[in-house]
Amino acid sequence: MRNKNLKSAKRAKRDEFYTQLRDIENELKHYKSHFRNKVVYCNCDDPKVSNFFHYFSYNFEELGLKKLITTCYKNRNVGIFRQHKELERAAYIEYTGDKNDNLRPDPEEIEVKYLEGDGDFRSRECVELLKTANIIVTGPPFSLFREYLAQLVQYNKKFLIVGNKNALTYKEVFPLIKENKVWLGMGSVREFEVPNGNRAKATFCSQRNKWFQKFGNVGWFTNLSHSRRNEELILTKKYTSDEFPHYDNYDAIEVSKVKDIPKNGGGYMGVPITFLDKYNPEQFEIIGLINSNSDSGIKELKKYDEYIEMRINGSPTGSSGKKTNGNPILKESDMLENKKKEIIIIPKIKNEKVYSLYSRITNKNKNHEN
Ligand SMILES: C[S@@+](CC[C@H](N)C(=O)[O-])C[C@H]1O[C@@H](n2cnc3c(N)ncnc32)[C@H](O)[C@@H]1O
Repeated sequence: MRNKNLKSAKRAKRDEFYTQLRDIENELKHYKSHFRNKVVYCNCDDPKVSNFFHYFSYNFEELGLKKLITTCYKNRNVGIFRQHKELERAAYIEYTGDKNDNLRPDPEEIEVKYLEGDGDFRSRECVELLKTANIIVTGPPFSLFREYLAQLVQYNKKFLIVGNKNALTYKEVFPLIKENKVWLGMGSVREFEVPNGNRAKATFCSQRNKWFQKFGNVGWFTNLSHSRRNEELILTKKYTSDEFPHYDNYDAIEVSKVKDIPKNGGGYMGVPITFLDKYNPEQFEIIGLINSNSDSGIKELKKYDEYIEMRINGSPTGSSGKKTNGNPILKESDMLENKKKEIIIIPKIKNEKVYSLYSRITNKNKNHEN
């Protein structure tokens, strides 16, 4: 196989993860009221294997759907390792509900139509289908997540999709979170079914005769309202300068655990990305993202060009402090012992160590006590 083909085959293989029915049921139960009289489109779903197709076709009447459309992508590389029989051409399915009162989708009730192209979600014909739909629900290919989400936003669609939460800090995704155009759903997806030939990191379940791969950071991205988004986070801590140190380079305090957000004080704070699991826009305002590639939304007070990076044992890593400019930085005296990782130290002048932290969200408590 030529190098280019090999690369796209590898990418295609990395995209073959199937969401399990129980994860779909567990998440979808929180959004039932959104679906009445709506056209749902699953645009990355082979109906022979997709549990999204299964869920919506078997729950069509209960949800009160108007129509279900599913497009199946026909990637010629995918057939190399898939275990199920391939359709010869990319196709799409339209289902408008049960006609013979047995409350299940029988083959004669499902209309299969062929596509001219390969069923790529970006293709003209798939975009035409997308335009006819009200809500898009699927697990899109992980490798194309940014483009996939951008298309949904571009066409102003309602959606509920599976994605890796690492995407939250992407420069294409975080602004959407900040502007309240996208938020996290309720649950996580910890395990996907993988095809037979994709078993490198997977484990076999003999009971179900299938391969599964675990993931630590996958969840749901949506713009459908759900109950958690309106829940107030109960805040119990009071601000003290000892417990909430000030960053060395930003006029904001470090809050290392979301549950410890202080209830008083209206200033800026940096909170871990996991804050987004609890984010209620009535309670908090997201200002920006503090890391070296993003806009923190607040003034950066200090650069580290004159610093060098050192390991915890004192040996230089070879990197300059420039690398850390823009990250949230704490002075050594403000760091907890067990959190110390990379050290940056001013050479020659004095032993003033500072520590660079993981990305933080710049946040403000709208309803703070004084
Ligand atoms: C992560 S899998 C999820 C499958 C299914 N949606 C689910 O959640 O079970 C992503 C699927 O998107 C398909 N896919 C890859 N590239 C695509 C594209 N450009 N357009 C549409 N589908 C694509 C893959 O073949 C793969 O089956």
